[in-house]
Amino acid sequence: MKILVTGGTGYIGSHTVVELQQQGFEVIIVDNLSNSQAGVVDAIAQITGIRPVFEKFDLVDREMTADFFRRHNDLNGIIHFAAYKAVGESVDKPLMYYRNNLVSLMNILEGMIANNIPNLVFSSSCTVYGQPDELPVAETAPIKKAESPYGNTKQISEEVLQDTIKSSKINVIALRYFNPIGAHDSALIGELPLGVPNNLVPFITQTAIGIRQQLSVFGEDYNTPDGTAIRDYIHVVDLAKAHVIAVSRMINKKMKQPFEVFNLGTGNGNSVLEVINSFERVSATKLNYKIVGRRAGDVEKVWANADFSNKELGWKAEKSLDEMTASAWKWEKAYRSRS
Ligand code: UFG
Repeated sequence: MKILVTGGTGYIGSHTVVELQQQGFEVIIVDNLSNSQAGVVDAIAQITGIRPVFEKFDLVDREMTADFFRRHNDLNGIIHFAAYKAVGESVDKPLMYYRNNLVSLMNILEGMIANNIPNLVFSSSCTVYGQPDELPVAETAPIKKAESPYGNTKQISEEVLQDTIKSSKINVIALRYFNPIGAHDSALIGELPLGVPNNLVPFITQTAIGIRQQLSVFGEDYNTPDGTAIRDYIHVVDLAKAHVIAVSRMINKKMKQPFEVFNLGTGNGNSVLEVINSFERVSATKLNYKIVGRRAGDVEKVWANADFSNKELGWKAEKSLDEMTASAWKWEKAYRSRS
């Protein structure tokens, strides 16, 4: 079975390529390396013993994308990760986000239709729920107005997909990720943000290793037990495994409808301070952090109702918070000692 993984050298993409190859799938990666490095392909080959095919080009380029699909018209499925994902940057550069995230999706869909490629797994986000009225949040919860252009690209993409399946033979599974953290146990692949990290865990590990001076904890006046914001952190390998299950479900024609949505979270919420405490415990280091004001656009608390994914996909996130922070730390140390 041949699967195209767009964004396959990125954080979640690379971990998914490893899981796919280990389950016997043949993988082709397309990535423009806008936020990742070609060396990730070597690392994947080192882990699995198989070098995935890698083509470097931009899926926003309609002609190049059409040409790619003409050359690879025998794909059994596509997992589409390639997208920009920094919330703050999307507020400053909305058109860059809309163009990149939406045009690439439309080019892929056109290629699928032209070449009768049936199955697409789409990377969506819990950001589509905004601040949910009910927690844990289930897939049936209403979609709230997006807090950022980035979040809006995920909402619009889900709508584009829903409209497209009605007039074509394409099937779609949209996976709504909560907060992926951690790294592969080999410490050969992991999260590698360019520049100053936006996200909590890479900021923690970079502070602990001395690249950043101090972590700012954004807000301690939220309506939560310790006052800091709560998220559902999920190990990236648990997340990657769900993609293999999703694409297999499509190929094996086990879908119940042509458009399905699944939450990918653990079902547990942890506060920022709980994540810091976990990190300090597993790394036996003291983290330099200070409490500052809230970050604009942050929701107070969100965690998944994962019952539907657990039941329908037969999948469950397995790793604990300590395992997640420990693996992130192992990766940070291994990466810095190599470079
Ligand atoms: N945080 C800090 N200090 C930091 C970075 C983050 O205190 O330096 C806090 C945030 O305020 C938040 C929590 O840590 O409370 C998690 O923040 P992240 O930036 O790691 O993650 P977000 O929940 O903001 O964003 C993630 C993904 C987005 C996605 C969003 C959906 O990165 O792509 O979840 O909620 F859209």
